[in-house]
Amino acid sequence: MEGPHSARFPSSPVGETSRRATVIRGAADERARRRATATGRCDVRVGTPPMPDAPAPDFHHAPVMLAEVLAALGSATEGWVVDATVGGAGHAVALLDAHPGLSLLGLDQDPSALAAAGERLARFGPRARTVRARFDALAEVVAAELDGAAVVGVLLDLGVSSPQLDRADRGFSYRLEAPLDMRMDPEGPMTAADVVNGYAEADLAHVLAIHGDERFAARIARAIVSARPLRTTTELAAVVRDAIPAATRRRGGHPATRTFQALRIEVNRELEVLPVALDAAVEVLRPGGRLAVLSYHSGEDRIVKRALRWHETGGCTCPPGLPCACGAVPALRLLRRGGLTPTPAEVTANPRAGSARLRVAERLPRPAPEEAP
Ligand SMILES: C[S@@+](CC[C@H](N)C(=O)[O-])C[C@H]1O[C@@H](n2cnc3c(N)ncnc32)[C@H](O)[C@@H]1O
Repeated sequence: MEGPHSARFPSSPVGETSRRATVIRGAADERARRRATATGRCDVRVGTPPMPDAPAPDFHHAPVMLAEVLAALGSATEGWVVDATVGGAGHAVALLDAHPGLSLLGLDQDPSALAAAGERLARFGPRARTVRARFDALAEVVAAELDGAAVVGVLLDLGVSSPQLDRADRGFSYRLEAPLDMRMDPEGPMTAADVVNGYAEADLAHVLAIHGDERFAARIARAIVSARPLRTTTELAAVVRDAIPAATRRRGGHPATRTFQALRIEVNRELEVLPVALDAAVEVLRPGGRLAVLSYHSGEDRIVKRALRWHETGGCTCPPGLPCACGAVPALRLLRRGGLTPTPAEVTANPRAGSARLRVAERLPRPAPEEAP
């Protein structure tokens, strides 16, 4: 299934480590490489990162909306589920425990998450596999790993895991002193320091406004540029705090929250690779299979909602209310219009679930070749 989202990937049966070569290369990489060349912002590297040898350190992540995800993906009791963001395998383990007929292919770009997932999934033997890959390589990973087996579910639980946020050395948190890193894939080509110290002021302001909904983006970008070079998370957090009007500083959460979110999204190109993964998920699902996506901020959710709606109509361009004459082929049925949100009890127990939104859709049958437009 070589295509526009071409990628190479490592494959490891769970419980083992693999030294097979990794090349993560996709359409999004190519766009980023071109952009990087044009702006001189960053150098996109296509490499062969080693798989981790050490067992996973403590990796605690509470799976969000677990009951709702299980209900969404539990409609099929046999076949493969692709967990494209396997993380600490919280959802994955619960799915395999609940449905002995299901098997699971877990993807993650973070080797420490993958090591933790591998350890937790080892007891399922051949029912579970893990692959280090970015999820825009989903179609190719599935083609190579599952060899035409039925994919009955795809889960995307977007964003970062708790250990990524809580481990100081990853540089995701404004509270913990660390180098400005924020890469989910530690072999990734660009760090937060590259963005903070290398982007033009206008580009930086754009990133903060678009990925962080930061209304003081221009002020913060100006302050960052005059404080360069910034090396650590806490240095950056102090610059952001001082750039924000005092009255605003006293309201709401930490003033650096939105800046850190925006930088993380930029560094990991989160919104760029998401549409590729969503299209691939629709493509690999067998009819009746379910796609479940958990998003955590408005930018992500907007992309998910648009992609699901597009596949619901097949991109139909006919006037609303008239029968479709443009030949569009709907691929999805949405299980409900809006997204589901976590219960208040879950948010009390796990505040990080607070912004979660779950959208679920079901794959429609593909038209027989003679029916195809
Ligand atoms: C919210 S956590 C998933 C937690 C998991 N559902 C669980 O129950 O433990 C998101 C995970 O997705 C991974 N991730 C984020 N974006 C990714 C991408 N583009 N490709 C592959 N993995 C990604 C992160 O490294 C992280 O481990």
